[in-house]
Amino acid sequence: MTRQPDLVRGATITGTGMYVPERVLTNRDLERMVETSDEWIRERTGIAERRIGAPGQASSDLALIASQRALEAAGLEAGEIDQIILATTTPDRILPSCACTLQAKLGAKRAAAYDVFAACTGFIYGMGIARGVIGTGLADNVLLVGVEMLSRIVDYGDRNTCVLFGDGAGAAVIRPCAPGDGILSVTIHSDGVLGDLLEVPAGGSLQPASEQTVREHGHFIKMRGRELFKVAVRGMEESLRTALDDAGLTPESLDLVIPHQANQRIIDATRERLGVPAEKVILNIERYGNTSSASIPISLDEVVRAGRLKPGDNVGFVAFGGGATWGATVSRWTMPAPVAAKVVAAPGAVAAAHGAGS
Ligand code: ACO
Repeated sequence: MTRQPDLVRGATITGTGMYVPERVLTNRDLERMVETSDEWIRERTGIAERRIGAPGQASSDLALIASQRALEAAGLEAGEIDQIILATTTPDRILPSCACTLQAKLGAKRAAAYDVFAACTGFIYGMGIARGVIGTGLADNVLLVGVEMLSRIVDYGDRNTCVLFGDGAGAAVIRPCAPGDGILSVTIHSDGVLGDLLEVPAGGSLQPASEQTVREHGHFIKMRGRELFKVAVRGMEESLRTALDDAGLTPESLDLVIPHQANQRIIDATRERLGVPAEKVILNIERYGNTSSASIPISLDEVVRAGRLKPGDNVGFVAFGGGATWGATVSRWTMPAPVAAKVVAAPGAVAAAHGAGS
């Protein structure tokens, strides 16, 4: 769609949704596949289990359910979406984009749809883009999705990576709001020099698919975990500090931090450096593993539906991923309690958390 930019305005999340496949792959299951142990995985990563998509299921299928849930929570029809921004490293196909496939499945006929390819930081990049297109008046209704089927690019013979990753999708509807509310600041960074710390070497223009690339397992994730660990902690701490500075806030003023779920030790180290208490930092890596660009919107949806956010809360989002890419955003939460109450499964849960009648 085309529209002339108008005055800068705010952008805020007005509905969230998530979906994970039914099949659970536990650490015990992995013990039967590679030389590892439940104890090692829990101690080094915090992960107990992860979800794996069914044969024939594609990223757009996961994204569709998460998006429908977010749209319902926001009270928006698919036909009203102006832009679909979809963050993924595992699109259904290289061409067309996964966002276009999702657009077709949703019936979001008037939306411009495109993928953001920023690995685990994709949702943060997407928040920045959404804020930009809404702020300048290019769009009113943005559907932002993070979706991954990392099980499709994981080598289940490589214990360095197969214990970490899982499948899932999360989505958020982002709409205009008053300046000074909603997404207050966004900081995003990249360093391509670190590109081979986490890569899928084959299947692109450099090494197109061939018998040899298949034989050499070139279509699977290769990772230098120890090196990533150090840069991830530093990048996450620095970017959240920058986003807080830009928003005129401090770590103490954060009500909640939703970090990318890469590894519990990375999250703990980042939290300690920032001086944020553990109870303010969301952790669900135990149940889902690392779902890359989906981990932040999945966590957000769980938090919203549990009634843990109320209008005026300051929320930090922070991520680090392949590329290397990293970044953070700080938002002043605006979703009114009645909207949150509507999407909560257990009646009364949010009313109790937010105070009846709020
Ligand atoms: N089970 C048992 N042993 C294992 C396993 C396993 N699954 N994986 C590795 N090991 C072994 C290694 O071979 C090594 O053995 P060695 O000492 O005999 O060589 C030993 O355990 C220690 O290996 P390290 O790599 O030093 O282990 P570390 O404590 O660093 O944990 C891990 C590895 C979990 C990968 C960690 O480095 C990490 O989380 N790194 C960051 C990964 C990350 O964040 N990636 C994603 C960011 S981007 C994105 O999310 C897509």
